[in-house]
Amino acid sequence: HYLGIDIGTSAVKAIVVDERQLAIAETEIPLAISRLSDFWSEQDPEGWWQAVQAAISHLRSRAPGAFADIKGVGLSGQMHGAVLLGENDRPLRPAILWNDGRSFREAEELERKYPDLSRALGVLPMPGLTAPKLLWLQRHEPETFRAARKVLLPKDYIRLKLTGRLATDMSDAAGTWWLDEAARSWSDEALAATGLDRSHMPALLEGSNPSGSLRPELAKEWGLRGEIVVAGGAGDVAAGAVGLGAIEDGAAFISLGTSGQLFVTTRAFSPAPEALVHSFCHALPDRWFQMAAMLNGASCLAWAAGLLKADIADLLRRTEDVYRKPSSLLFLPYLAGERTPHNDAYARGVFFGLSPETQRTDLVQAVLEGVAFSFADAKTCLEHAGTQLSYAGLIGGGSRSVFWARILANVLNIPLVRYEGSDKGPAFGAARLARLAATGEAPEAVCSAPAVLETIEPESHLAELYSPQIESFRRLYRALRPEFR
Ligand code: XUL
Repeated sequence: HYLGIDIGTSAVKAIVVDERQLAIAETEIPLAISRLSDFWSEQDPEGWWQAVQAAISHLRSRAPGAFADIKGVGLSGQMHGAVLLGENDRPLRPAILWNDGRSFREAEELERKYPDLSRALGVLPMPGLTAPKLLWLQRHEPETFRAARKVLLPKDYIRLKLTGRLATDMSDAAGTWWLDEAARSWSDEALAATGLDRSHMPALLEGSNPSGSLRPELAKEWGLRGEIVVAGGAGDVAAGAVGLGAIEDGAAFISLGTSGQLFVTTRAFSPAPEALVHSFCHALPDRWFQMAAMLNGASCLAWAAGLLKADIADLLRRTEDVYRKPSSLLFLPYLAGERTPHNDAYARGVFFGLSPETQRTDLVQAVLEGVAFSFADAKTCLEHAGTQLSYAGLIGGGSRSVFWARILANVLNIPLVRYEGSDKGPAFGAARLARLAATGEAPEAVCSAPAVLETIEPESHLAELYSPQIESFRRLYRALRPEFR
């Protein structure tokens, strides 16, 4: 058996998978975000570790036999977060997360000063990435910056707890703006641009390679025998790809979780920072991917449901019952600012076109469509980066709604494939990486695609009606862009 642990933003998720790759037990421990100020988004690394320990005790009581047989552990996690460690490897402050926009000035400065670096680093220096945050700390919390001995990504803090090792994997390192993506090694130039050097960085390894073993005292506490390997693991998006078997050239999917991504695996490094595309190392050797990364995904629906004091499933059902055609109400989903396609930390959510007749279900439909329109922008960005999509898989919590999937298929005008168990997400991919690290099997033998549940084809009359709406959506953002500042 293998254990996959995903340090998500809204929850730590953990799964035990058997030799046939069936999920034997799963659990989820919720996490809160702290937003102390405009643009800020932080979590306490100790909170992740407590949630991991709670997840382990759930899994042990749910499936004691399977848990006792665990041979390897894989980690996945929210990307881009900055965990600063001081003496004795203790966190110096809360982690600054991927959806924290405070370093927008530093990001602009890096872009201006180092216009030629972004191609090698796979992405423009956007405020959610790790490097601009370190420049922000240097200016605003100089004592913390000076005390920092290592900078870790979220899941790698948990690796430190599990193994005592300071290491990261290529796919997570890829999102820092410090990794030379083609060479798969740290970029001295990018590190120097933020006042750091290699001594601040953890060791780099491939996601499917062992990073160390579970500390003996933990193994004993968890009731495990023998040496338990902890794999390099992956950033959550690449881990999702491994779980979905998206490891060959052209394999494409949409991940609709808290955030949203449009992801395509590539067998060569194909940078297109000018298109606001992220071109990053995959979690397996000799593979890369191109990704449009949006900060606002299913989180928009959760936000709307919270405000409307309603249950998400119930809202979706009521909205689907009255759905006939595209709504005339537009929603800009940029609640947390946006990366692809705008690189705009100031952008905010907007409802446009409210009338005395507007109902709750109209608001919900506009939210579902607004997120879908942002995926249409993502598809256009990938096209500018040289990638044409003829289909895409659909994973993440948002993929549970067939209604939302139908809207997405009509807006993107491509078929979307829903898979069995596709809401298991990155933790399942992490368990696969654990297996690869423990057994040395070939990735192709383990990373197969799950069974197809259904393919949602676009309906031509609706796709046609959506196309002018997408244009209005784009015009609305362009018109408002100066107002957000
Ligand atoms: C990807 C991204 C998010 C985070 C949180 O670029 O920012 O996917 O990893 O899930």
